[in-house]
Formats: sequence, C-alpha cells, structure tokens
Amino acid sequence: MRQAGRYLPEFREIRSKNPNFIDLCLNENLSSEITVQPLKRFNFDAAIIFSDILLLPYALGQPVNFKKDFGPELGEINISKLSKISENDYIKKLQPVYNSLKITKMKKELQDKDLIGFVGAPWTILVYMLHKKSPKDGNFKKHLSDKIFVNELLEIIIKFLKIHIDNQIKSGATIIQIFDSWAGLLNEEDLENYVYKPTNNLVNFIKSKKIPSICFPKDIKNYKKYVALVKPNVVSIDYNVNPIEIANTIDITVQGGLNPNLLLGNKEELKRNTLKYLDIFKDKPYIFNLGHGVLPNTDPSMVDYLVKLIKNY
Ligand code: CP3
Repeated sequence: MRQAGRYLPEFREIRSKNPNFIDLCLNENLSSEITVQPLKRFNFDAAIIFSDILLLPYALGQPVNFKKDFGPELGEINISKLSKISENDYIKKLQPVYNSLKITKMKKELQDKDLIGFVGAPWTILVYMLHKKSPKDGNFKKHLSDKIFVNELLEIIIKFLKIHIDNQIKSGATIIQIFDSWAGLLNEEDLENYVYKPTNNLVNFIKSKKIPSICFPKDIKNYKKYVALVKPNVVSIDYNVNPIEIANTIDITVQGGLNPNLLLGNKEELKRNTLKYLDIFKDKPYIFNLGHGVLPNTDPSMVDYLVKLIKNY
C-alpha cells in the first residue's frame, strides 16, 4: 500500500537528502533501493515498486509538486498540448521507472517474490488532474459539468495508463495493482462512466498481457457490483467494509482490509483483529494486507509482529 516506506528510518534518511519527491521517484537506483527496503526487514511475499500514481500527469506535462504537510499540488492542464503529446516522449519521461523495475527484479530480495507495478485508476487520476490537489473537501461535482472536455481527458488518461502498464510489465512487473483512492466520491449514477467502464478497460488490457490485476476501489459502497462489472482477478478492500459480508458475497480473491491504525496501538488488539480477517477468509483465496497505506508514525516492530503472526497462522 502507499507509503510503505515512510515509517522506515532508512527511507526517511534517503528522503531527507532528496527533497523533490518526483525526482526521487525518477532516480532509478534510489527508487529500486527503497523498493527492497521493507523486504530486507520483513518476510513479505511481494514488493511494490517505489513510484507514484501522479507520475502520469507529470509525464503528460502537468506540473506536480509534493508540499510538506499539504500533499500533492498540480499545475494547470493544457488540453491542446496534452492531446499532442507523443507516446515516445511520454515513455522517455517515465523510463527511470522502467529501469528501476529491471534493477529491482535482479536483486536477491526478489528471487522468489512478485514485483507489483501499479497505476492510479482513470477516475482517481482525473480527480487529481482537475482538482489539482487531494479532494478532501468532497466538492468535486463542479469539475464534471463540461462533459465533452472531461470525457476527452478521460480517454487521454486511459490511453497513457495503458502505455504505462504495458511498459511496467515489459520491465518485470508480475502483477498490476490499480488504485482508485477516490472511487467513494461518486454517486451510483456516475460510477458506470467514470469507474466501472474505464477500469474494466484497463483490467481487460492487463488480462491480455497474461498478468493478474488487483483493484482497490476505496470507499465504494457496492463491492459485489464493482467486481461483477470491472472483473479484476483480485479486489482489495478498505477498512470500512464488513469482511463477513465480503466473504459471503464475493467469489474472487480478496486482499486487505485491516485498519492501518491498529498498527499504532497495542499488540493484543492488533492480534485480535488480524485473526478476525484470517478466520473469516480461511476457506477462501485471500491475500493478507492492510485496508490502506501504512501510516508514517507506525513503529516498524509492529509490522514485524504482524508479518510473523500471519506467517505462523
Ligand atoms: O507503498 C509504497 O511505498 C509504494 C509506492 C507508492 C507511493 N504512492 C509512494 C509515495 C504507491 C503505491 C503510491 C500510490 C498513491 N499515490 C495513491 C494511491 C493509494 C492511496 O494511498 O490511496 C495516491 C492517492 C497517491 C498520491 C499521493 N502521493 C499522495 C496523496 C501522497 C501523500 C502526500 C503527503 O504529504 O501525505 C503521496 C506521496 C507519497 N507517495 C509518499 C510515498 C512514499 C510520501 C512521500 C514523502 O513525503 O516522503
């Protein structure tokens, strides 16, 4: 999950010397090193490449900055420039990510482990490109009034997400995860156009490459409908959904669910909640994971405790 590294002192050390986050993502040696940092400490089954979903708008020419204590901030979009951007220029800008995947793949920590590549879902990318920051205030509807413009932009996003997915797979990603962090912003009537259809388009593309896809539609109300329409190989659930209901209604592999806040508390409560997920899904295909990213103030020893608990189950 996002920011797997931020709770690790070895990540923070590299980060403190690299104040520009995008430049750090595009430093192939450092990003590869950051990718394997958690695997050096913990017996995880897979690594996720150190990158960011906002490299897509960046590579399309929209300025992206990460401001301390604010989060991402994006600049103006120029649609006529955007529609002229060539595939080659775009790939050239993202080439360090592909190089980083290749370097990571060769490391001993990855010998018998999967390497997860990822993208933001078309909807979540659209949200950042139009709102230009995290839409925490929820007033997003205003951006959708010019339907022709929005749909044109959505088509461009989908086209370039596919190119990014394709190149990650060619460079060694063995799984693709699609993060739809803002799927929960939409009403049912808008999900078809902005979430189900475009995400299913990407899932079909990933299927055609014979690679499994994991979709994370955070805060979506109807996971069953999402799975039926998007058809990923795995659905990753957030911590607000009832896992019993998911186990009873979803017939594909489920990932995640545990509230990352539990890693900030005591071991007994963490254990009780972890066993709850493991027990609920014990007769089903299940990938243990969190329901969102590891929080920055997490004590690494709690992650160690959690991984051992799962491995011993
Ligand atoms: O787990 C990992 O470290 C893998 C790499 C990864 C990052 N971002 C690195 C990162 C992944 C998978 C992401 C995905 C991502 N990025 C999402 C989808 C998942 C989710 O959390 O909902 C989103 C919405 C983003 C956009 C983004 N990037 C935000 C909102 C932020 C937070 C900014 C802040 O100041 O809180 C980031 C920054 C970011 N991406 C960090 C990392 C390690 C932290 C950067 C830092 O300050 O050191």
